[in-house]
Amino acid sequence: MPRPTLIPGENRILHGGDYNPDQWLAYPEILNEDFRLMPLAGCNTFSIGIFAWVSYEPEEGTVSFDWLNRIMDRMAAQNQRVILATPSGAMPDWMAAKYPEIRRVDRQGLRAPYRDRHNHCWTSPVYRDKVTEMNTRLAERFGKHPALGMWHLSNEYSGECLCPLCRAEWAKWLEAKYGSLEKMNDAWWSHFWSHTYTSFNTVEPADSTVDGMMVDWLRFSNDRLIDFMRHEMAPLRRLTPDVLCTTNFMGTNGHLNYAEIAKHVDLIADDQYPAYSSEITDLASSGNYVAFKDNLYRGFHPDRPWMLMESCPESPQWCSPMRTKDPGLHRLEMLQAIGLGAEGTCYFQWRKGKGGMEKFHGAVVDHVGHENTRAFRGVAELGALYQRMEGVVGSKVLAEVAMIHDWESQWGYELSSGPGNGRKDYLHTAVTLHRGLWERGYGVDVLGQDREWDQYPLVIAPRMWMLKPGTAERIRDYVAQGGTLVMDALGGVCDEYNRVLPGGWPGGGLREVAGIWVEEWDWLDEKTHRTARSVDGNSLGLSGSSEVERWAMIAHLEGAEAVAIFEDGWYRGAPAVSVNAYGKGRCITLLGEPDIAVVRRLMGHLGRELHLHGAVSDLPRGVAAQRRVKEDQTYVFLQNFTKDRQTVGIGGRWRSLANDIEIEGSHILNPLGSDVLIQLP
Ligand code: GAL
Repeated sequence: MPRPTLIPGENRILHGGDYNPDQWLAYPEILNEDFRLMPLAGCNTFSIGIFAWVSYEPEEGTVSFDWLNRIMDRMAAQNQRVILATPSGAMPDWMAAKYPEIRRVDRQGLRAPYRDRHNHCWTSPVYRDKVTEMNTRLAERFGKHPALGMWHLSNEYSGECLCPLCRAEWAKWLEAKYGSLEKMNDAWWSHFWSHTYTSFNTVEPADSTVDGMMVDWLRFSNDRLIDFMRHEMAPLRRLTPDVLCTTNFMGTNGHLNYAEIAKHVDLIADDQYPAYSSEITDLASSGNYVAFKDNLYRGFHPDRPWMLMESCPESPQWCSPMRTKDPGLHRLEMLQAIGLGAEGTCYFQWRKGKGGMEKFHGAVVDHVGHENTRAFRGVAELGALYQRMEGVVGSKVLAEVAMIHDWESQWGYELSSGPGNGRKDYLHTAVTLHRGLWERGYGVDVLGQDREWDQYPLVIAPRMWMLKPGTAERIRDYVAQGGTLVMDALGGVCDEYNRVLPGGWPGGGLREVAGIWVEEWDWLDEKTHRTARSVDGNSLGLSGSSEVERWAMIAHLEGAEAVAIFEDGWYRGAPAVSVNAYGKGRCITLLGEPDIAVVRRLMGHLGRELHLHGAVSDLPRGVAAQRRVKEDQTYVFLQNFTKDRQTVGIGGRWRSLANDIEIEGSHILNPLGSDVLIQLP
């Protein structure tokens, strides 16, 4: 069975962007230019109508899609596909004025005036009806249009609403979840400060003193968002069951649980900003972070490709300062996404508008109006390369390592007062550990706690603060059956209500797996660090000393071996890294934030021991490599995140698709160079 594509039956890599003809209806010559320029830019897919509600319905009940129809026809005539948006991301002014209930209420109880966007209430029946009516009309009119590729639900859903309608839903949600006040109070430990709730209706959402409740509030807001999104989708599902629905996510945004939202859409799309600019001194570190995010995104729907819905060939106008993008970076950024499983890269925006706050936001078409710009040429060259590499469509990314990521653990940790105060950078450990794998070209699947990880020889579980029911048991089984687990001592601190797990950390039974007991935490400020020294002859092959920043855990060995020990502080001699044999496997525990030097050594050792392969045979530092395979075809993607020429060992014979040459054994990448190689027989 071939793997599904982003648009059923469409075998091109999707390439294009947000197109706003609704802003240019009075300029037919510009629209004509757009249609001349689109194929020249090698673009084939456009998101349309994201903020177009008022242009469809300038007054209540008067709806016309005439301009959209003309655009859709022109798209079809040029064999271009449309990602058609539902316009709920921005309401018309008349609607906001006539139906104040649609406008959100904030934590102070204030209803927002009409301005901005992404600000409607999740519950308002009026808005839900309006959205259903609009989406029904769109689906009826364009559901069978040959240009229609997929649905783009609203735009970057996010935020919370505390209006009376949403609060009534909150009370219902709590009652459905807990059944009784007693259970709820127990789950939140709300006897603290006399917060024992006597009614589901009195639970004030924005009260950071009851952190378990705040975790639930984020869960509830996420559920409201999903509920609204499903409501939006209902007419589309009914009228166009074969057209896939997506919505654009925002990277690793900490307020939303994308792993949950993802379960309700057909395919995954991300808005990636600003991945790279000249402001960033350590491009490889950004490259690693983006790869972590991409590995997470691919895992939401592993059986389907994902896409960049928005990215930018130049700089977003909101960057401060707004630097240019170095030559080469744009292609590198896009090929990185494709290498990690995307099959479409689109831009915000196709053309710069004449006014409004995004008039200087980077685009394919500049205010100058013609195609002779650096950005346009870069996009066009990439479009041509995409045509040469169409065979990639339908291939699969190979991954040998699993990493566990959990948004609710992030919420629980961040909402708990004490740990990490002043530096609540939840993802830091995960991203550092990921870098050790990324630099070796190992494929990594980043997965939620509810996913399967038994088949991976190596599982990394950074800051698994909150253990969901069953997770500890599954981890125990995984290790007992022979798996290698790397975790840090911030795992197994709380249960799913953010209540501390009693009996010593790591809790929930993981103490036995780790063979240690953490008695105290030391949260380090920016001026303080500790030194950890490897123990001679340790079984992980670690050597030398390294710095520990941010946090250190003071632990007792309970059967584990100390692989490294702290050299300073009153806890000098206490383990800094431990390894414990458990069943047929082992658990490695980091007792302080590891620095990259240690991570590199650790991943190198585990990679050799576990026979991990990597995408290429020799990868210089700062260069990333990914492998995608399809039947008998193998593709390797390379990105040089350094400003030096780099030589990559690739073994065997390959064709470079960027340069259209044959190469053997090794490949030279220019500064910020990138390439796609296809293996030759
Ligand atoms: C995104 C948004 C777009 C545009 C873009 C600018 O967050 O979805 O509509 O505003 O940012 O970078």
